[in-house]
Amino acid sequence: MSQKIVILDFGSQTTQLIGRRVRELNTYCEIVPYNKFPADDPDIIGVILSGSPFSVYDEKSFKVDVAPIAARYPVLGICYGAQLLAWQNGGVVESAPSREYGRAILSEVNDTDALFHDINPGETVWMSHGDTITVLPENFKIIASTDDVKCAAFHVEGRDIWGVQFHPEVFHSTCGTRLLSNFVKDICGSKGDWNADAYIETTVAALKQQLGNDKVVLGLSGGVDSSVAAVLISRAIGDNLTCIFVDHGLLRKDEFAQVMNDYRCLGLNVIGVDASEEFFAELKDVKDPERKRKIIGKGFIDVFDREAHKLKDVKWLAQGTIYPDRIESLSITGTTIKSHHNVGGLPEKMNLSLCEPLQWLFKDEVRAVGRALGMPEHLITRHPFPGPGLAVRILGDITPEKVRILQEADDIFIRGLREWGLYDQVWQAGVILLPVQSVGVMGDERTYESAVALRAVTSTDAMTADWAHLPYEFLAKVSNEIINKVRGVNRVTYDISSKPPATIEWE
Ligand code: XMP
Repeated sequence: MSQKIVILDFGSQTTQLIGRRVRELNTYCEIVPYNKFPADDPDIIGVILSGSPFSVYDEKSFKVDVAPIAARYPVLGICYGAQLLAWQNGGVVESAPSREYGRAILSEVNDTDALFHDINPGETVWMSHGDTITVLPENFKIIASTDDVKCAAFHVEGRDIWGVQFHPEVFHSTCGTRLLSNFVKDICGSKGDWNADAYIETTVAALKQQLGNDKVVLGLSGGVDSSVAAVLISRAIGDNLTCIFVDHGLLRKDEFAQVMNDYRCLGLNVIGVDASEEFFAELKDVKDPERKRKIIGKGFIDVFDREAHKLKDVKWLAQGTIYPDRIESLSITGTTIKSHHNVGGLPEKMNLSLCEPLQWLFKDEVRAVGRALGMPEHLITRHPFPGPGLAVRILGDITPEKVRILQEADDIFIRGLREWGLYDQVWQAGVILLPVQSVGVMGDERTYESAVALRAVTSTDAMTADWAHLPYEFLAKVSNEIINKVRGVNRVTYDISSKPPATIEWE
């Protein structure tokens, strides 16, 4: 990877957003903990200091001496990052008399300064700080103000050091992209040539180097992350990559066969394992959702491990871990970043080296890489699907008959969403089989059958979600079709709960 911006993370909620914005400028960046600056990396062209939940004068706050970094690279401090620069150079930061949150308007701007090139007074900026810089060090010059915040931005005279007390990375800062572009492209000299093709080229070369002639095993889930990781690795090492796709019997209707077919068309070397009977046996009479999850998680690891051991001389376990999976949070002591494994427990059990080629990418970047690799659109835009599959959508115990009912109903709903052009407008959709029987009437007969709930949500990250406002006509059609065609169901409801307080899945 040539040319990168390093973002030092002081724990702000918007640090990832800074990363997104920099990547949108076709510039590669990495977010690292505030005290883990990769000093030996020859590709760094500039450094951004993030915000923080702390005050610089707080004893517990995350601090690092910025001087050696600023001596080598252009630096932009954002909010806490700006306050840290001022404070470390002898300025004063204090609790603001009135907390400065939300929308503010730039009243004065020095647009001869490189950071504010082409940015005029009147632009909206987003403030979010309880502290403010009250005294600037001598050579720090104010280059932008709002009515309430005199020092909205500063530049250290004669040095490539800037600070802004507002957040250019948030959507509401109308000049944010321009400002970040001024920093990243004009000041740091990014060529703006980072894109999916460049990523593939450099990653495939790096994987060839890293893996050489070694054998690699990867667990496929049918989801976009593991699929893109597999195609990328196979580009580098061909059939030295073996993929294992375990069918626990709780996938969508015909999904195992379809996904296997897709994978083969992509030229992947895939072993499909139908372990559904084993899983059904383990899950017999189990009602508790957490037990179901544990049984399936452990079962998956056992089957995968067993199959992988049939292969010879495997050295690496590859995973489709992506960036948001890795960075969960900076611990309060600031020393550890919690890591997350896509397939919980596998790396520990298998004692193989880990290969995670998507570990620096956001979800939409993974999709862009998938498209650039020529993968079919339906694999790339597939909705998220929980690892335990339909097990957490059958409330109560699981039987093959209940799985059949749910698969049929789910298939009608998902096909309908596609046919009506609604599939890509929702984040995720599925059907829940309720442990409820109710009375109905079909023809002249009284029925006493199951009820299902349709669930479709809009979201950007699954952390929060709203129920999708699907057209009544569509819901009516799906309801009719399910009741007419799926034996065992006589009632369809639509879940109109948001997350929070509900969750996306019912279990
Ligand atoms: P909830 O139900 O917590 O779901 O709002 C948030 C997202 O996570 C998915 N999900 C899971 N994914 N294993 C998974 O791999 C699980 O046990 C699991 N439970 C929920 C869910 O489908 C949604 O995308």
